[in-house]
Amino acid sequence: MAAAAGSGPLVAGAVRRGAVGRLVLTQFRSYASARWEGGPDPVVLTGPNGAGKTNLLEALSLLAPGRGLRSARLPDLARSGLDRAPESDGWAISARVWSGPVSIDIGTGCGALAGAAPGSDRRVVRLDDRVGRSADLSYHLAMQWLTPAMDRLFQDGSGERRRFLDRMVYGVDPSHAGRLTRYERALRERSRLLREGRADAAWLDGLEDQMVTAGVAIAAARRDLVRRLAGALASAPGPFPRAGVQLEGRIDDLLAPGPALAAEDELRDELRVGRGQDSVSGGAAVGPHRSDLKVWFPGSGGGLDRPAGQCSTGEQKALLISLVLANARLLIADRQATPILLLDEVVAHLDRDRRQALFDQLLSLDLQAWLTGTDATLFEPMQGRARFVRIDPGRIGTD
Ligand SMILES: Nc1ncnc2c1ncn2[C@@H]1O[C@H](COP(=O)(O)OP(=O)(O)O)[C@@H](O)[C@H]1O
Ligand SMILES: [Mg+2]
Repeated sequence: MAAAAGSGPLVAGAVRRGAVGRLVLTQFRSYASARWEGGPDPVVLTGPNGAGKTNLLEALSLLAPGRGLRSARLPDLARSGLDRAPESDGWAISARVWSGPVSIDIGTGCGALAGAAPGSDRRVVRLDDRVGRSADLSYHLAMQWLTPAMDRLFQDGSGERRRFLDRMVYGVDPSHAGRLTRYERALRERSRLLREGRADAAWLDGLEDQMVTAGVAIAAARRDLVRRLAGALASAPGPFPRAGVQLEGRIDDLLAPGPALAAEDELRDELRVGRGQDSVSGGAAVGPHRSDLKVWFPGSGGGLDRPAGQCSTGEQKALLISLVLANARLLIADRQATPILLLDEVVAHLDRDRRQALFDQLLSLDLQAWLTGTDATLFEPMQGRARFVRIDPGRIGTD
């Protein structure tokens, strides 16, 4: 399809300001049927606990590649309720998304409601009514999010950190999502063959070739992003920490000294030599699925930098905000795209100065941020500059 060919809005010359203009939810989480329409301004969602604020952000996050901000299983997204008609299984989200002056209708979902083939449990993606893939979504929208669950990002395994990083890469390089899909498919297939002991050498060679081509491209795109992110962080304005960032992993070491071709040859050799070990331990000992994003909190007054995992919860939150804002700044400065930010319960944890600084930066970046909280008064400085939307169970807005 056209978007996958690299001609999508995000790769056009001018900065394309991303914004959701319309969102319609059908049988999604706590929403039987709900609709939101609005302009490109920031949106503040307020309402009591359990009202459906995070559910709404989750729906927005499904306009990007992947499984959304809760990494949920697709069936869990369908509204559970005794009143549901059996013939309308699944869930659906439809949205009008702006990228600068260009708009696209995105439809996604699962089951009959999304128009999936009977029995299919896959996510359906439609772009202007043409069938697409989840990876294509990054051609139309750059999106990043922060959620309370990400307070553990620096403690948990490296997978979530890679996904966080990869979402940033999508913004500068929309083909990254498709590359990851190709890599993961080849890795899974190779693991299966090795596990089953079907050591057809030519077949394995072919899969490893795919892993090498996609894998080195993935590592190179991440490396490029991290380098630029480090630059954007070093000149960060305001009270958020000027975090240090670095990629760590065997494949990242291979790329460091020189040309990608040499890294490809080395990776191909290491995969071939590692087949025996990989057949025992599963997966692959080397590749971009092993890389990690290391983050440091800068030392103050000549003090040493501290690894993010050793910082206080508040400091880690501030680091995450720094990273997301730096990424937004570099996307805009590089004339790529203006990302949409989903900031779930971020504001309540900030002191007054940082809260004000966050609002100031979001407004000066002129991006569509979606902010949530239980207490509307915390968002007072955004009055007149953001759209305030009340969320009550099953309902968006007060109509
Ligand atoms: N698949 C589902 N079907 C129906 N309700 C759901 C489903 N998943 C979650 N919920 C409900 O959605 C409600 C709102 O959740 P959430 O959006 O996290 O609230 P909050 O406004 O506090 O962010 C919760 O009460 C939860 O039980
Ligand atoms: Mg919530």
